[in-house]
Amino acid sequence: MDVLWAFFIINTIVLVFFSGFSHGVDMLTSSQSLTDGGNLVSKEGKFQLGFFSPGSSKNRYLGIWYKNIPGQTVVWVANRRNPINDGSGLLKINSTGNLVLLSQRKGVVWSSNSTKEARNPVVQLLDSGNLVLREAEQDGNSESYLWQSFDYPADTLLPEMKLGWDLRTGLDRRLSAWTSSDDPSPGDFTTGIALYNYPDPYGWKGSNKYFRAGPWNGLRYSGARKLRPSPNFQHNFQLVFQFNFVWNEEEVYNMFYLKNKSVIARYTLNQTNYQGQHYIWNEENSTWLLYLFTPRDFCDYYGHCGAYGSCDNSESPPCQCLKGFKPKSPLYWDSLDLTQGCERNKPLNCVKGDGFIKFGGLKLPDTTNSWVNKSMNLKECRAKCLQNCSCMAYTNTDIRGGGSGCAIWFGDLIDITQLKSGGQDLYIRMSASETGAEGETKIKIAVAIVIFIVICLLLVSYYLWRRHARLKGGKENHGVNDRSNEGAEKDSELQLFNLALIAKATNDFSTGNKLGEGGFGPVYRGTLEDGQEIAVKRLSRSSGQGSNEFKNEVALIAKLQHRNLVKLLGCCMQGEERMLVYEYMPNKSLDFFIFDKTRSKLLDWSKRYHIICGIARGLVYLHHDSRLRIIHRDLKTSNILLDSEMSPKISDFGLARTFGGDQTEGNTSRVVGTYGYMAPEYAFDGQFSVKSDVFSFGILVLEIISGMKNRGFSQTSQSLNLIGHAWRLWKEGRPLDLMDSFLQESSALSEVVRCIQIGLLCVQYYPEDRPNMSSVVVMLGSENALSQPKEPGFLMNKRSHDQTDSSSSMFGSSSTNDITISQLEAR
Ligand SMILES: *[C@@H]1O[C@H](CO)[C@@H](O)[C@H](O)[C@H]1NC(C)=O
Ligand SMILES: *[C@@H]1O[C@H](CO)[C@@H](O)[C@H](O)[C@H]1NC(C)=O
Ligand SMILES: *[C@@H]1O[C@H](CO)[C@@H](O)[C@H](O)[C@H]1NC(C)=O
Repeated sequence: MDVLWAFFIINTIVLVFFSGFSHGVDMLTSSQSLTDGGNLVSKEGKFQLGFFSPGSSKNRYLGIWYKNIPGQTVVWVANRRNPINDGSGLLKINSTGNLVLLSQRKGVVWSSNSTKEARNPVVQLLDSGNLVLREAEQDGNSESYLWQSFDYPADTLLPEMKLGWDLRTGLDRRLSAWTSSDDPSPGDFTTGIALYNYPDPYGWKGSNKYFRAGPWNGLRYSGARKLRPSPNFQHNFQLVFQFNFVWNEEEVYNMFYLKNKSVIARYTLNQTNYQGQHYIWNEENSTWLLYLFTPRDFCDYYGHCGAYGSCDNSESPPCQCLKGFKPKSPLYWDSLDLTQGCERNKPLNCVKGDGFIKFGGLKLPDTTNSWVNKSMNLKECRAKCLQNCSCMAYTNTDIRGGGSGCAIWFGDLIDITQLKSGGQDLYIRMSASETGAEGETKIKIAVAIVIFIVICLLLVSYYLWRRHARLKGGKENHGVNDRSNEGAEKDSELQLFNLALIAKATNDFSTGNKLGEGGFGPVYRGTLEDGQEIAVKRLSRSSGQGSNEFKNEVALIAKLQHRNLVKLLGCCMQGEERMLVYEYMPNKSLDFFIFDKTRSKLLDWSKRYHIICGIARGLVYLHHDSRLRIIHRDLKTSNILLDSEMSPKISDFGLARTFGGDQTEGNTSRVVGTYGYMAPEYAFDGQFSVKSDVFSFGILVLEIISGMKNRGFSQTSQSLNLIGHAWRLWKEGRPLDLMDSFLQESSALSEVVRCIQIGLLCVQYYPEDRPNMSSVVVMLGSENALSQPKEPGFLMNKRSHDQTDSSSSMFGSSSTNDITISQLEAR
């Protein structure tokens, strides 16, 4: 080998690195070569080619980077898979006209493998960042290049570089991320174009689909959201990216270019967080700014909502079935694992004839099983789809100028997202009765309008008749009656129960019917005459609210409806009595299960995870989505009820608002809550906000995972409570020791650790450090890295006897149950 090596060296003029030479040389002829230490610089000095060692690695690679950007941002690597272990690297054009990279020990470590015949080849580094091999006399025509680095990208796409297919040669240009910052060999995160009949850009994790842009519709990728001018970027950066997609017989590729050519930008795959990231160079701060990235949110992960499910990130939960479809398995649908998807309310009947329903604003579904004809119009497209019983949807391939082209889908429709802006129409096959139902509703609406008009006419004539009568008959006054009618109308939204009825339903509030003692009074089970089971909360009589005030408040709470909230059916007021009537939950409350040795076995990890997710979603609704913005203020396991499918339902919400002072945020002298669940700022200063609920939620999560109570927790001789215990295990790097021991087998351990981390993030001491509930839901549903929790509040068990400060008046109660403190005055 050494002899061969000497032969190479002698037969070529070696470009050695010295300053005079490093400027301006952008080309090697077949008689020259480049050794480690030397380099090529593109004509305008934008890019540089040379040998480098990435990160802390000692290996040598041949690569291209920006010449004028500090920190060496490498955009291309030749010998990614085959590093050189010493300084003997040498690049040259060999006798067959190929570019080869040699090392003394390994021989050829990389070669351009061009099959084109070359007479007088030269290799040149262009200012686009492209390294090209061409005939010396032919210049600047990309079609004539013998070989170019742009055809063999690494992890980075530069402006005007093609990502995708040359169908004439079968060349498939894909990006693959670096394994790590020390190792440019291809990682398992890749992106490129899936060459289905209807082509679609994808990101893959190994061989699994990870995200999908949606097919190009002439204007944009069907899953693309509108780019918004962002306040984080200087004006001249805004909307600087332009995307283009070429799809013809010869080529299928996508590319981005820059509207302002003096901006420096790139698209790079990031193996650490599995994102495709668009970066812009910021000269002023000398940093790369992250400008765009995918996946952006929950809905960008591939197939998140399963077949016929549509993802809408502004909704909670984000997965919904398309209209006319229902969840295949309601149990799974409720959890954040929704891959089971949806099924039709009414089955198709191809023989009798189906129809189509138009859905607007969608990212088009996965095109694996699709068929395309670019010259058909929409009508022909519909006919084509109707012909084949397995065709499930159709639409235009190009939405410009009123739409043209035809794409049809076979089999289940997967990975649909509802977009706020952008998106497009999709016509989905439906049973005739379903599409007919649309017609029926139209008829119903028409009938309703006619009836309405008739009633109006009758009322007007009645009014005219009355006026006439009054003028004739003197001073009749119906005013009082009218007003009382108005009152009755208002009440109709809320069901008012008669005391006698409730008493009968609950066996006269017998102890046998008592379910427990809640925050604001005892709760009884009852059965109405029609067989409906109810739970009645008999409020303690101290609230002193007037009946109207009470009624209004309850009417407001009754309007809060979410599948993770217990449904309030109505109320009862008679004399001093104030009662709330709820739907009855057969499975009691969460504490009944998780703190009991035997019953806790009924809740395996997937059920517990499902419960955690459900509680989180219920809270998002209370905090952010409902009109009232309710802070619960008394979240605890006994307030989480379970329905027949073990789905969680939050109870007692809105009561703090009604009976514990009416602010929704701020400071109160009346602390409502339960020892062991209260956030420090609330317990000590009476300061509450959505973040104090987040704290209680964090405790719930830790309790659900460990099967132990935060309060009264004693595992070690130390006086750590459950939070303190969890925090210590976390810091010692053995979070799983927190887990209920019987869960060990059934659990997705990474999911458990993730939940522990989320729990700890929620119980951090400072409210501003805690995430809000929407972020918690996102965290539960994604696999992105989470931040490290800081020290939580309340690490120690406070026992009544070691309390001396003024807060002991609040905590010093000797009761052993988790009784809500609702009547105590804080300092
Ligand atoms: C183009 O970008 C450069 C560098 O960021 C900036 O100085 C210049 O003003 C931009 N030109 C336009 C027309 O936005
Ligand atoms: C990956 O993305 C993260 C977050 O945007 C960033 O901090 C990190 O530097 C990126 N890694 C690479 C190799 O670009
Ligand atoms: C319907 O389309 C599928 C998928 O392209 C095809 O396999 C099948 O033969 C077609 N059926 C008819 C009746 O054309």
